[in-house]
Amino acid sequence: MEKYVIEGGRRLAGSVALQSAKNSVLPLLAASILTEERVTIRDAPNISDVACMAQILRELGANVRFSGGNVTIDSADACCHEIPSSLTRELRSSVFMLGSLLSRFGRALIAYPGGCDIGLRPIDLHLSALKRLGVGISERDGFIFCECARMKGAEILLDFPSVGATENILLAAVKAEGRTVVTGAAKEPEIVDLQNFLNAMGAKVAGAGTDVIEVEGVKALHGAAFRPMKDRIEAGTFLFAAAACGGEVEVEGVRPENIRLLLHKLRENGCKIHAKNDKIRIESGGRLKCNRRIETMPFPGFPTDLQAQATALNASCAGCALIVENLFETRFKYVPELQKMGADIEVKGRTAFVRGVERLHGACVTAGDLRGGAALVIAALGAEGVTEVLDLSHIDRGYADFRTKLKKLGASIRRVGV
Ligand code: UD1
Repeated sequence: MEKYVIEGGRRLAGSVALQSAKNSVLPLLAASILTEERVTIRDAPNISDVACMAQILRELGANVRFSGGNVTIDSADACCHEIPSSLTRELRSSVFMLGSLLSRFGRALIAYPGGCDIGLRPIDLHLSALKRLGVGISERDGFIFCECARMKGAEILLDFPSVGATENILLAAVKAEGRTVVTGAAKEPEIVDLQNFLNAMGAKVAGAGTDVIEVEGVKALHGAAFRPMKDRIEAGTFLFAAAACGGEVEVEGVRPENIRLLLHKLRENGCKIHAKNDKIRIESGGRLKCNRRIETMPFPGFPTDLQAQATALNASCAGCALIVENLFETRFKYVPELQKMGADIEVKGRTAFVRGVERLHGACVTAGDLRGGAALVIAALGAEGVTEVLDLSHIDRGYADFRTKLKKLGASIRRVGV
């Protein structure tokens, strides 16, 4: 077990080289077994979720190699359609493997997926969509078994724009017989990335980024090399850190339209934002103002994956903020940790009411999930005194070289064993 030791109160300055998007790379890795040919994903981030997904592919019989920042997958010899529960429980994204395994082998056996402890996270939308494609599904003892010799394209209406369900449908439909039309699809930029990757492999997918996606099934896919989009959540995390500490920070590689609402909220706080092409610079100084209200929504709304970081910033702004979490039931578990640092926050169900305090102070806190952990780091960087953040395994799931990048900006942060 390791912890961060952070001395707060340093201004941040400089530019951050962003990693490839975690939420793009994970479905791309799942997609890699759709072909027997070699697939290369460039600039794969060095995070434990990617390592876990690579391990899942190896369990299936694929050869997965990391070299020079890239990951290469050769799945010609893959023959296994079962994913051990030890791995699916660790990584929620393993649920995408249902679509890929069905496309490749006509069958899939996986344990119910895990991931961050932020709510119920059911997979009913995934399963009912697969049924529409002709898949037979049985569930027993925490395992899901899916089978279908050849899936058939269908009209699928999603009640809610689930990111994972949309991606799973694409992975299942690319090699199904005929045409699939998904209405009510999630519009996240990472879905556009998946579409581009699948098309680079020879698939026929159109419409990603809108709420109607059409897939014309093809007989086979071929190998491809692909560079994923940069991580907009990582970009947002660094912008919040800069806002909380004061200073001037630039992130490069994220299109401003992909984080439009975040930039709007930071301007509301009183930060200056300069956005041009894919370069975003934040200037923050003096006491910031609370946002009146932040409400998480599917894209293009405010991302739930930045909710905790936004709350951490508001905790020491002037005024009051109402933070509403609409996506996940229990995504305020980090709040008691912020309270240890002096934050004045009241949580009722899906709403957090933040009364900004003059300054947070150092404390010993524990990261309970990935984004909640990032929020504690942001709070610590802006706080007075020394904070210890324990249980870095959650943060390691999604941020590569987090400490090194923050240190380069001028933060005082060490990683030490406990
Ligand atoms: C993805 C992201 C995650 C992000 C989330 C919302 C990845 C690897 N993860 O997760 O970081 O926080 O999108 O932007 O890309 N739901 C159902 N039934 C289902 C599926 C989902 O009720 O079958 C509900 C969930 O419980 C949740 C909401 O829909 O309340 C959003 O979930 P979804 O969009 O599916 O998120 P994930 O794909 O799990």
